[in-house]
Amino acid sequence: MTQTIVVTGSSGFIGSTLVEHLLTETDYSVVGIDCYTDYYDRSLKKSNIENFKSHPRFEERVIDLSKDDLSAIPDGTSVIFHQAGQPGVRASWGSTFNGYTSNNVLGTQRLLERARELKRLRKLVYASSSSVYGESRRFPTTETDLPRPLSPYGVTKLAAEHLVALYAENFSLPTISLRYFTVYGPRQRPDMAFTKFCRAALANKKIEIYGTGEQIREFTYVHDIVAANVLAAECTETGGLVLNLSGGSSTSVNEVLKVLTSLTGKELLVERGQAVPGDVTRTGGSTERAKTVLGWKPKVPLRDGLEAQLDWLRRVH
Ligand code: UGA
Repeated sequence: MTQTIVVTGSSGFIGSTLVEHLLTETDYSVVGIDCYTDYYDRSLKKSNIENFKSHPRFEERVIDLSKDDLSAIPDGTSVIFHQAGQPGVRASWGSTFNGYTSNNVLGTQRLLERARELKRLRKLVYASSSSVYGESRRFPTTETDLPRPLSPYGVTKLAAEHLVALYAENFSLPTISLRYFTVYGPRQRPDMAFTKFCRAALANKKIEIYGTGEQIREFTYVHDIVAANVLAAECTETGGLVLNLSGGSSTSVNEVLKVLTSLTGKELLVERGQAVPGDVTRTGGSTERAKTVLGWKPKVPLRDGLEAQLDWLRRVH
């Protein structure tokens, strides 16, 4: 019998890339859950799923995890990839915080309650974030280092990660949490650095850098993230495991601009603004545990991944 896989956040950047992979590389039936929040233009999310929305093994259910009836998640579900959430480190201050608590914390808690009812569930994979670490004290940061988020967003991602682990501990729910480090590639959200930088470069507009540009991220290509999710669903270890998924090279924002200059052959118009609260100075994670548990390591180098993202933006915009 064909297995049913649920992907929450199925029209988002990572969720839609994962769904497309599952439909093309496996014979699973995929139920996509999304509520089309207005964090960014909904038409972009619609275009993310355009390629597969009428695929015979795909069904979309438009529901809000934080308030709707979750019986829309089929009883026979084998795997849940929980990608849905309220994203954005820098946007999580002030009155928007409500959206972070409801979509990231309450939405995850309600999903976990529904997951407990699913008799065939063999894995719930939670999309966590490097933002749970805040300003790390050592690099590469390991999963046992103390998480101390620097942004309200990071607090909600960590709270949800704790919920995932405690449902594993109390109810033997087979969960695994993957801490994504700044994911990029085709379909990246419009508020994220690479999409903004590429768009500005292509349109000969100004690129705004927050602070000095010396902040370092371990950027991770989206297909590497998808590959890790698939491995996590098959992994036999359970019990609320947490793994870093970091891209393999720590790069400053200024270095990214150099790569973009060489890919576009253009002199970029760069404007340096204020550093933004919540933005950490550096991220960089150890992938030793992901290698041991999943046999995963990142494959796509920054230059290749950025080139793929640039090509995508040239095509769609
Ligand atoms: C990203 C995602 O947006 C989060 O949802 C995710 O949880 C997080 O990664 C993570 O790894 O945990 P961020 O690292 O801020 O957050 O990703 P980008 O928006 O790609 O920013 C990368 C760097 O570029 C940041 O240091 C930011 O200050 C800088 N930036 C971004 C600019 O200088 N200018 C911009 O216009 C945008």
